[in-house]
Amino acid sequence: MTKIEHIGIAVKDLSAANEVYRKLFGYEHYKTEEVASEGVMTSFFKCGENKIELLEGTTENSAITKFIEKRGEGMHHVAFAVDDIRSEMKRLEEEGFILLNKEPKRGADNKWVAFLHPKTANGVLVELCQDIDPGFTE
Ligand code: CO
Repeated sequence: MTKIEHIGIAVKDLSAANEVYRKLFGYEHYKTEEVASEGVMTSFFKCGENKIELLEGTTENSAITKFIEKRGEGMHHVAFAVDDIRSEMKRLEEEGFILLNKEPKRGADNKWVAFLHPKTANGVLVELCQDIDPGFTE
């Protein structure tokens, strides 16, 4: 793992949260992106070389909607940058972490992502992310 890539924060209302974080940072988010497969709308703020990802659920079944119903708004996950997501997934599985997806999937902001179950990481949902190769096509 090379750095904290971003911290994910579950929010009820993305545009209201964008305004809160605009005031916090003193500048605007740099992108908004829907990840329809996950039922989320996201926005990203840069903070030095790290980022904050705000996530609003767009469906009743979205993990973000369920998270907020259970625990309210707040910190949802910590994402670490990795150079080779498949080898890290294999290594972490061998170390006893439970992977929530067996194959890397497409996440927001041009990343391959995989998640580790919070119960195997001291209550923290861990995301691994690797930049998608600019030459990659489906
Ligand atoms: Co994330």
